[in-house]
Amino acid sequence: MRIALGVSGGIAAYKAAELLRLLQEKGLEVQVVMTRNACEFITPLTFAALSGHKVITEMFGGAAGASNVESAIEHIALAQSIDTLVIAPATANVLAKMANGIADDFLTTLCLATKAPLIVAPAMNVNMWDHAATQQNLETLRRRGVRVVNPDDGYLACGMTGAGRLADPQLIAQSVFETLGLSEDLKGEVVLVTAGPTEEPLDAVRYLSNRSSGKMGYAIAEASRRRGAQVVLVSGPTREDPPAAHTFERVRTANEMAEAVLRHAGKATVVVMAAAVADFRPGTVHEGKIKKQQGTPVVTLEPTTDILAEISRHRRDGQIIVGFSAETAQLIENATAKLHAKNLDLLVANDVSQNGAGFDVGTNIVTLLFPDGRNIALEKMSKFEVANRVLDQVVEIRRKSGV
Ligand code: CTP
Repeated sequence: MRIALGVSGGIAAYKAAELLRLLQEKGLEVQVVMTRNACEFITPLTFAALSGHKVITEMFGGAAGASNVESAIEHIALAQSIDTLVIAPATANVLAKMANGIADDFLTTLCLATKAPLIVAPAMNVNMWDHAATQQNLETLRRRGVRVVNPDDGYLACGMTGAGRLADPQLIAQSVFETLGLSEDLKGEVVLVTAGPTEEPLDAVRYLSNRSSGKMGYAIAEASRRRGAQVVLVSGPTREDPPAAHTFERVRTANEMAEAVLRHAGKATVVVMAAAVADFRPGTVHEGKIKKQQGTPVVTLEPTTDILAEISRHRRDGQIIVGFSAETAQLIENATAKLHAKNLDLLVANDVSQNGAGFDVGTNIVTLLFPDGRNIALEKMSKFEVANRVLDQVVEIRRKSGV
């Protein structure tokens, strides 16, 4: 696999050499692209020697000048051939250009020209990091699906202390491996994932359902597979294309979902219930269509099986159970109650009333809750990124349990 490593101008540019080494150790072919400012901090020669490839620093081939059209075309061909573009360090300036579609050098042109996933690891002075402009630009990029490896807090080269220090190259590399599906930390696990809504028929043409799109569960399934797990995906009706899975089952009602999930649960080492299962269904389903002439129907609802509670009651040894909770008020209190009532290892709570969270959007804002009372509030990020953060915790739970 081929990736491009973009290096922009910051004191942390030298750490990109360590990142390059980590990427190469995984067998990746790395093409380094440097901005002009980056060359003030570290010479292209360093990266050329380490990567075994000429470093691209100029749109038109540097010394050859603007007439070197051939090299410009060659360089643009890079956009089509890479599997990921990671920029580390990414300065406030580069992030601003990316957010606004400005392409005034090779690196930012590559950002626009490539369809490969983008990862940025920002590094800058704390005030620049905190600035509303930078935060808004990051927000824009995240919304577009760019993965952001957040900087660390600590002592900064400018003498100040705070957020802005380039993340550990190990973490940045990990993010690249996850994106490429090269992180195998779920190898040996069988992950059973549910996704989407259920439909509870009222008559032959009508049903009760909810606004779930299936995106969150599909992201969990996709991320699990990329991280080496065997994936069983049980999905309610969705408009999304399901991701590749070892086993895929399409169901409609809560009952069908319960049946499928309980059938697969015996072999699952991890269960992630991301589906928005109907809690109630119409007590009777009319044969044919209910006609207006029959008068206004009175619908009586009856509870469905709580699949998650059922799984938890019959938990296999070492099985990790993750639930989701959609709330519109008192997120933490309600979600904590569910976590304990259903005896879960992890509950992913989201306030679906917030912008950029919940149903049918590409992003989510979740808090991860644990039985020991810890909780981790994640910022708004793509559902794929949320999926990876959830799976990071699954790996951590497995590591701690030692099973
Ligand atoms: N769930 C389930 N079976 C159901 C209902 C929900 O397995 N019949 C699972 C969901 O997949 C989710 C979790 O339970 O992982 C929480 O669902 P939610 O509907 O938010 O919680 P409830 O416990 O049903 O509580 P309430 O609807 O009162 O908020």
